[in-house]
Amino acid sequence: MSTVDFLKAFFKNPMHTGAVAPSSKKLGRLMVKSAGVAQATSIVEFGVGTGVFTEEIHNTKTPEATFIALEINPKLFEITKKRCPEVVIYNDDACNVKEYLAKHNVMQCDCIVSGLPWAAFPEDLQKKILHAAVEVLKPGGIFVSFAYIHGTSLPRGKKFYQLLKHSFSEVKKSSIVWANVPPAFTYICKK
Ligand SMILES: C[S@@+](CC[C@H](N)C(=O)[O-])C[C@H]1O[C@@H](n2cnc3c(N)ncnc32)[C@H](O)[C@@H]1O
Repeated sequence: MSTVDFLKAFFKNPMHTGAVAPSSKKLGRLMVKSAGVAQATSIVEFGVGTGVFTEEIHNTKTPEATFIALEINPKLFEITKKRCPEVVIYNDDACNVKEYLAKHNVMQCDCIVSGLPWAAFPEDLQKKILHAAVEVLKPGGIFVSFAYIHGTSLPRGKKFYQLLKHSFSEVKKSSIVWANVPPAFTYICKK
C-alpha cells in the first residue's frame, strides 16, 4: 500500500518526492537516534512521506515534547495523518516552519528530522529550506537528513553537502544502511 502510494506520488512529481519507495524502519530508527529525539523538548520533521520517520519520532519522544511536521503533498499528508493521528502535521512547505513553530509558542527547536529529497532540489530551493531550518534551530541543535549513496556523486548531492558544511558548525556522516532501498546514510549536523 505505502509503496504504491509512494510510486504514484513519485510519478506525479518526481522532484518533490525524490524516492520510489518509503524509507526503511532501520533508517527511521537511525535518523531518530541521531537527532536525539528521546532527549528533545521540541522536534520538527520535514517531508513526512508515508510516515515512517513520523511514527518513529512519535513513539520515541517524551509525551511532553512538542512535535510538528510539514508535508507539501496533500495525498501523502492525508496518508500520514491517518497513520499517525496524534501527530500535528501541516500540509505546507518546510520553508514556512518558523510560522508553524510560533503557533505552538516555540521560537527555536532542539532538532529537525528531514525526509526531504535534497539531491532532487535545485540549489536555490536547497538554500531556501536550509536557511529556514538553521533559523529555527537552537544553538547546538541537531539537523538530521538522509542521502542515498548514489545521490552523493550527483552535482546537486555534492552541492547539498557543501551547503551543509557551510551552514553548520559540525557535519558527520553515519554508516550506510544497506537494508534501505536504495541504500542510504545520514548527515548529522550541529548548529
Ligand atoms: C523521500 S520522501 C520522504 C520519505 C519518508 N521518510 C517516508 O518514508 O515516507 C520526501 C517527502 O518530502 C516531501 N516534500 C518535498 N518538498 C517538500 C517541501 N518543500 N516541504 C515539505 N515537504 C516536502 C515530499 O512530498 C515527500 O513526501
